[in-house]
Parts: sequence; C-alpha cells; structure tokens
Amino acid sequence: MKVFLTGGTGFIGQPLAAALLKRGWDVHALVRRPESREAQALARLGATLVQGDVTDRASLVAPMQGAGVVINNAGWYALGIGGKEAEAQMQAINVDGARHVLETALEAGVPRIAHVSSIVAWGDTGKTVRDETYTRQAPPPTPYERTKTAAHALAEALQTQGAPVVMACPGSVHGPGDHTTLGDLIRLYVRGLHPPIAMFADYGRAVVHVDDCAEGIAAVAEKGRLGESYILSGGNATYREIFSIINETPGGMRIRAYLPDFAAKPFCWAAEPVERWLGLPITFSAEMAQGATSCYFFSGAKAERELGIQCRDVRQTLLDTLAEERRRAGKRR
Ligand SMILES: NC(=O)c1ccc[n+]([C@@H]2O[C@H](COP(=O)([O-])OP(=O)(O)OC[C@H]3O[C@@H](n4cnc5c(N)ncnc54)[C@H](OP(=O)(O)O)[C@@H]3O)[C@@H](O)[C@H]2O)c1
Repeated sequence: MKVFLTGGTGFIGQPLAAALLKRGWDVHALVRRPESREAQALARLGATLVQGDVTDRASLVAPMQGAGVVINNAGWYALGIGGKEAEAQMQAINVDGARHVLETALEAGVPRIAHVSSIVAWGDTGKTVRDETYTRQAPPPTPYERTKTAAHALAEALQTQGAPVVMACPGSVHGPGDHTTLGDLIRLYVRGLHPPIAMFADYGRAVVHVDDCAEGIAAVAEKGRLGESYILSGGNATYREIFSIINETPGGMRIRAYLPDFAAKPFCWAAEPVERWLGLPITFSAEMAQGATSCYFFSGAKAERELGIQCRDVRQTLLDTLAEERRRAGKRR
C-alpha cells in the first residue's frame, strides 16, 4: 500500500517512516530538502522522496495520487520563537499546512487520513488525568499550543462532516535527539553541565518514548477508527518525579533544589534575550515558562485497548533516553 507521509525527516518522523516501512508499506515522504542528511537517511531506509512543502498546496497534489493512507506529521514545535513573523510562519506550517494536507487528501479520495495532533490541543488538565473526551478549560498560552489547537479543531470539523480522518495525539515525546526543553536539559545533565537546581517541580505531563510514539502513529494510521482521536502516552509525571529518575543515573551534579515559580519565571524571561544575543538555542524563554506552569496529564488507555500498542512507562522512557544520550556524549568526546 502507498502511504504519503509529511514530516518524515523529523524527530518522530524518522522512526515513524521506519515503522511504516516495516509494515511493508510503500512510503512516499514529502521533504523540503531532498539533499539533506535526514532526507537521504529516509531514502536509504527505502522511502521514495518527493520534494514539496505543506505551505505550498500545489506541491501535495501529484504525490498523493493513489495513496491508501496519508499521514500529516509535519509541524513546527518550538518555544520562544520571538515575534509576529515567526508566529505567522508557525501558523502557516501547523494550521494552514495541516489544512492543505487534509483537504488535498480528501479531494484525492484517500480512504484513511491520519493527522498528528498533540495533547496540548486539549490544554491544561490540572492534576487530574484526562482522556480524549476532555475539553479545553483555558486559552492556549503559547503560539505552539494555539496552532496545534487550531489544527486539531479543523481536523475535528472534517471528522464531524464524515471525512475519513483519525488523529494521533502524542504526549511529550522523549528519546535520543529529543528537541524539547527536557531533551536539552538531559543533554546538559549527561555532560555534567546541568546545575543542581531545576524549576517547575510540581507541574508535569504525559510522556511517551519516540519509538513507541512512532509505532502508535503507525497503528492509528493503520487501524484507528475513523472519526476518533488516540492519545499516545506511557504515563504521567511531574518534573520533580522526572528529575528524581534522572538523578538515579550517572551524570554531573544531582538536582537537589527547585527554584520557586516566583523566581523561575523571571529567570526564564531574562534568559531568553541573553540566549538570543549569544546565538544559543532558546532553552529558557517566557513561552517555555508559560507552558511549563501547566499540567498535561493524559491517559493512553484507549490506544492501548483498541490498537494493542504498549508504550514503555515514564521511568523506562527516561532511562533509555539518558543511556543513549550518555553514549552519544561519550562518542563525541
Ligand atoms: N516532539 C514532541 O514532543 C511532540 C509532541 C506531540 C506532538 N508532536 C507533533 O509531532 C509532529 C512531529 O514533531 P517532531 O517533534 O518530530 O518535530 P521535528 O523534529 O521538528 O520535525 C518536524 C518535521 O516537519 C517537517 N516540516 C516542517 N515544516 C514543513 C513544511 N513547511 N513543509 C513540509 N515539512 C515540514 C520537517 O521537515 P524539515 O526536515 O524540512 O525541517 C520535519 O520533518 C509535529 O506535528 C508536532 O507538533 C510533537
């Protein structure tokens, strides 16, 4: 079967492409830069590369013809993007791009269309673990959350009209190469560069290992019920619980204290312009502080029950991530 995949070169997309190829599917991966290292790695795995961009609807039409499944996994995840121009670009990729992919697939008569949404599309849960029936209680605090919420809503509207759309909603995805703030902190930790102090201890989120997430998206695309959404999660943890697992492993300084929110937030606000001025990746930002002072506690029970997937738990996800990042750090020395 032909599957048309967007976002195949990314953190989740690479293991996702591998999971689709393992099923014996003929993967046609939309890539912006076929010459990139990531695109070439996809080609070596056995995917057919098609050049295009989700913001350019015309580039999607021909490569989707004859597809049995379309998976829209492309997206721009970032916090601290800085400014209206970047926000407009995020809107163009995460919302308009999703609309282009889903509507083009519908027009092409594709029988199964899977959209990769996120648990952030439902927003802050407080301390209670929620499921796919939850409804948003507060406005999205960041452009990323706003755009993922808008894309989720447009996919849901198509589902309501009877379109053959199914959604995969991963929790916070971790694993080697993770580009979330926690991924940055884990890389600092294994190199002995993380200070013995952390932030936002009592907030947290649902966590899923990147390989389980990829397997889960493939399962949603293959056999998820059309019109439904499936949360992909191996469990929930607060940052205090996450750092206590990290502390069990070899690294640098153990994390022994947490900045209170009244100090952590100004720290993030002040760090952002400094990181930008120094040309560093934006790890701490006002947006990061806004997102990190919410809880996103969600259950992945529906996907496990209906699709037969099994995600490793938070502890194993973190231990596997730490071990692989430690191995990578050692190799670079
Ligand atoms: N990471 C998480 O914790 C998490 C959690 C829940 C949901 N998600 C969702 O999962 C999806 C994948 O996330 P990720 O973490 O793997 O992100 P990522 O590593 O940044 O990968 C993003 C992918 O989207 C592609 N892309 C971006 N803009 C595009 C455009 N205009 N046209 C075509 N392709 C474009 C990128 O291609 P290039 O190689 O050309 O840049 C890349 O393949 C996103 O929709 C994200 O919102 C992620």
